[in-house]
Amino acid sequence: MYIIFLGAPGAGKGTQAGELARELGLEHIATGDLFRQALERGTDLGLKAKSYMEKGVLVPSQITIGMVLERLSAPDCTKGAILDGFPRNLEQAEALDKALREQGKAIDNVVYIKVSEEELLKRLSGRWICRRCQAPCHATDSPPRVWGKCDKCGGELYQRPDDNEVSVKKRLEVYLAETAPLIDYYTQGSKLIEIAGEGGVAEVAKRIKAALPGER
Ligand code: AP5
Repeated sequence: MYIIFLGAPGAGKGTQAGELARELGLEHIATGDLFRQALERGTDLGLKAKSYMEKGVLVPSQITIGMVLERLSAPDCTKGAILDGFPRNLEQAEALDKALREQGKAIDNVVYIKVSEEELLKRLSGRWICRRCQAPCHATDSPPRVWGKCDKCGGELYQRPDDNEVSVKKRLEVYLAETAPLIDYYTQGSKLIEIAGEGGVAEVAKRIKAALPGER
């Protein structure tokens, strides 16, 4: 099973994709997390991605597509995966379709989380991320039990450098120009499920589960 999470920066893709992956026993593949982990380790991939991420623009597709297809070919992804933040433009979507088709596989569903711009800005300005497991929380809406420590694994919480006002504005522009056209692409392929993303985390999760086909 392959499920994609699509939505603007701060829509809650990571939050919901992580929960659903745990529930379905699938790997959660988040391209932003893969780049940030590579950067923490100081690898070539991380250093290449750094300047693009800081500016809030997309890392070139030649780098991103190869990284994701390699990750998807790992043994822990044989049952499928939950993709978060990939694909991000038409080129990536077509490359993913082609790679899956060559293995007799296909995307099952695309969960598009729709949130107003005002709510996106509020979520991103209060977001804290775990350095160890990447789980996000929010300073006021879902604060950690112990300040500075991740509720899930006890790792250190930090604020992403690209959650500043200038980068967020750019990320929203890039989303509208390059990623939003995928809404039409997946609607045409009858894969898209649109979810109202405002309301609490549990409420949105319930909507997603109710909208996905099959019993979950
Ligand atoms: P990436 O890490 O993917 O960032 P993004 O798409 O901008 O998405 P975010 O992680 O900001 O938001 P999210 O939707 O996951 O929200 P979250 O669940 O954290 O990408 C970063 C960069 O990497 C890109 O700019 C690009 O440079 C590069 N990159 C990544 N993928 C790429 C690709 N495919 N191609 C090229 N370049 C790529 O939630 C946000 C906050 O809201 C949290 O604090 C959370 O606790 C809170 N929250 C969540 N849900 C709710 C709710 N229902 N109610 C209240 N608060 C909520």
